[in-house]
Amino acid sequence: MDAFQYRGNSLLVEDLPLSSVAERFGTPTYVYSRRAIVDAFAEFRRAAGTRDVLVCYALKANSNLAVIDLLAREGAGFDIVSGGELKRVLAAGGDPSRVVFSGVGKQETEMRMALEAGVRCFNVESESELLRLDRVAGALGRRAPVSLRVNPDVDAGTHPYISTGLRENKFGIAHDAALAAYRTAARLPNVEVIGIDCHIGSQITSIDPFMAALDKLLELVDTLHAEGIVLRHIDLGGGLGIRYADEEPPSREALFRAIFERIDRHPRGASFGLVFEFGRSIVGNAGVLLTRVEYLKSNAERRFAIVDAAMNDLMRPALYDAWHGVLPVEARDASPAQVYDIVGPVCESGDWLARGRKLAIAEGDLLAIASAGAYGMAMASNYNTRARAAEVIVDGSDAHLVRERESVESLFALERRLPR
Ligand code: LLP
Repeated sequence: MDAFQYRGNSLLVEDLPLSSVAERFGTPTYVYSRRAIVDAFAEFRRAAGTRDVLVCYALKANSNLAVIDLLAREGAGFDIVSGGELKRVLAAGGDPSRVVFSGVGKQETEMRMALEAGVRCFNVESESELLRLDRVAGALGRRAPVSLRVNPDVDAGTHPYISTGLRENKFGIAHDAALAAYRTAARLPNVEVIGIDCHIGSQITSIDPFMAALDKLLELVDTLHAEGIVLRHIDLGGGLGIRYADEEPPSREALFRAIFERIDRHPRGASFGLVFEFGRSIVGNAGVLLTRVEYLKSNAERRFAIVDAAMNDLMRPALYDAWHGVLPVEARDASPAQVYDIVGPVCESGDWLARGRKLAIAEGDLLAIASAGAYGMAMASNYNTRARAAEVIVDGSDAHLVRERESVESLFALERRLPR
């Protein structure tokens, strides 16, 4: 959260007081720092040095066109999981030859779109998908570049909902079934095997699970090589964690160093390119959700700060019991602090953004919900017919509106009443 700092009692994003963002654009509003996004990506690039590494940005974390555009300008590749995300990459000026297409349920139309755009690689998650892709590519007279997503059965040590590399998860092809799937792929006429892929989970805060997954992939790479199936790249997915509270995830540099060391020890290490698919670690700490306290209220048990943002805006606390910092936008030194649950107006007891936080606040105050740049707006909904928040990117002391606040009318514009 380096781009969000207090100057005196005021919380700034880069050089701009967050209070002025609220004044100009209203609340709730997602506010991102351009510098924080660019710096996070640049750190990956620096860590990669001159190696053959493609750092993709996993769009699902935050798919605003301006974010994609910024990262495209920095040379990022993109990890997509739908035809919709591909359209966003293209609309934002991203390069399709730097796109990898992940996801367990790719539809034929999505495959066609991706083949026509010329994506770099399909990360295929089952034999059925492989056969479908071969057929779709054949009909278009193309060859589809593929990696198989292998499920290495590694515990990422993260929340069960965002753990994806365990045997019991729906993702990927089981490690012990991968060889057979590669053999199938190798004999399909319209598929070109180019790599191997895994993604073991998200918000991973230690290097070990990445290394365990890499070891499993390298084992397979050797077996495949012995059969004459030669791979050009290894895609290790995303998943590097960020600090929400007191987590201490490895630095981008430390993670890459460990991976490079392991690759360099492999006899054919120099022949593999590496691909990554990072989302959270690029945008997570580059954004906050700016919200205003509507009411303070207490009952026999608790004190509540009812704010104008809700679970529909930021779903992570309700869904994963996730912890986000809460920062007063104008700190009140003199007022006594109380312990509050920060809750929204949605009609569910699960509608909370933070619980048990000691804050000195009054009705009308602004709060910044921290570390909301990833999986915030991207997972927002219109539950309770709530228009989704505006999105703003701050660059120095300039604020750019990158998504207007939705109008309520637009929420039911596609709906029709029955004929009389
Ligand atoms: N690649 C694949 C195939 C993925 O499924 C994901 C995330 C990523 C890359 C990016 O992972 P990251 O670097 O952002 O950890 N909504 C949850 C996170 C879900 C992650 C799903 N897959 C949350 O708010 O914590």
